[in-house]
Amino acid sequence: MAQLQNKHILLGITGGIAAYKAPDLVRRLREQGAEVRVVMTDSAKAFVTPLSLQAVSGFTVSDDLLDPTAEAAMGHIELARWADIILVAPATANTIARITHGFADDLLSTLVLASKAPVVIAPAMNQQMWAATSVQENIETLLNRGVQMIGPESGEQACGDVGYGRMSDPTQIVQALIEKQPKTPQTWQGKTFVITAGPTREAIDPVRYISNHSSGKMGYALAEAAAHAGANVILVSGPTQLATPAGVQRIDVETAEQMLNAVQQQLQQCDVFIGCAAVSDYRIAEIASQKIKKEQSDQPPQLKLVQNPDILQQVASSEKPPFTVGFAAETENLKANALRKLERKQLKMIVANDVSQTGLGFNSDSNNAIIFSQDSEQSLPTMSKHDMAIAIIDAIAKRYFDNTNPEIRAN
Ligand code: C5P
Repeated sequence: MAQLQNKHILLGITGGIAAYKAPDLVRRLREQGAEVRVVMTDSAKAFVTPLSLQAVSGFTVSDDLLDPTAEAAMGHIELARWADIILVAPATANTIARITHGFADDLLSTLVLASKAPVVIAPAMNQQMWAATSVQENIETLLNRGVQMIGPESGEQACGDVGYGRMSDPTQIVQALIEKQPKTPQTWQGKTFVITAGPTREAIDPVRYISNHSSGKMGYALAEAAAHAGANVILVSGPTQLATPAGVQRIDVETAEQMLNAVQQQLQQCDVFIGCAAVSDYRIAEIASQKIKKEQSDQPPQLKLVQNPDILQQVASSEKPPFTVGFAAETENLKANALRKLERKQLKMIVANDVSQTGLGFNSDSNNAIIFSQDSEQSLPTMSKHDMAIAIIDAIAKRYFDNTNPEIRAN
């Protein structure tokens, strides 16, 4: 089995002769299921080309802290958040010193500072340099800080010397990385999540529709987090601009009725249902078969609306309901409204957020929320939707696998 499945590995390549092993390292990390993005220092480019690394990783190589084009694609802060692990291989004496002393004048050292991800270094340098007091002191500082180290190995070096300082081989690095992974069980292995995400679109005529501002980011982040924790994930998505997370099966729909149909078809095998979509509460009673023209009448058209089905409620009240989680976007009385919704829709959990706060919720990258169940309340402070998704999936796991909770159906 791929043992780094869906792991986001940011590989920092620095300027040592061992950089020639980097393309092989990328290939071997990907064989283990990891997604690899490469950051190179300027001197690394003297040993291996960005183009080779782009070809083996499948992503453009990042190398410049101040490049507006790169920042517009995946900016350095996004890259820092994206990483689950920062692996610096080869790590030269210079880069080790820079990381130890908190430099932030190139992309790689800045990313190390800006990321919460664990840092793993695979040193590579001449044996005399490796033995130098300053290098050893820097290494000791890093190890005390929790930075992990793979190698270096002893043997013949490119310069002809013999001793410690050779970078470990890519196979050894990958194996060591796998062994260093926290041994959290793949909690959701064998369980299926169905998650709705994004807006729905309700046609008025062949060119117009009613919709809302939902970007789908929260639902997609949940799908990614559940897949990361080992679940089979089916994402039923309204129209969004987002890429399907790795390992997730996506079903595209437009209207609320299509979303309901798609969800119902998946219910048989569903253990956890999360209704994260911003489903349009109403649709047009009769969709005009031709474009409505201004010239047709002196009066503006009167649009008659009918209520859409409540997907979440229908799932929760189905014959053998999965563990059902809803969302509540509220502008006032957050707790009271969320608890009422929990009760009315017969949910196991509801994630409530205050959408009156600017910069949070709809269309933004971060959010804060309170998770309510019938007898518990957990506040999640402002954080990225990525981190929030992990926290929500964790909270669901705590309830779902709590054997003392008789309401959870045994599977
Ligand atoms: O009632 P309200 O729309 O505020 O409830 C929000 C929750 O219900 C969300 O989890 C949303 O995905 C779900 N919902 C649904 N179908 C609807 C309306 C809301 O699944 N028609």
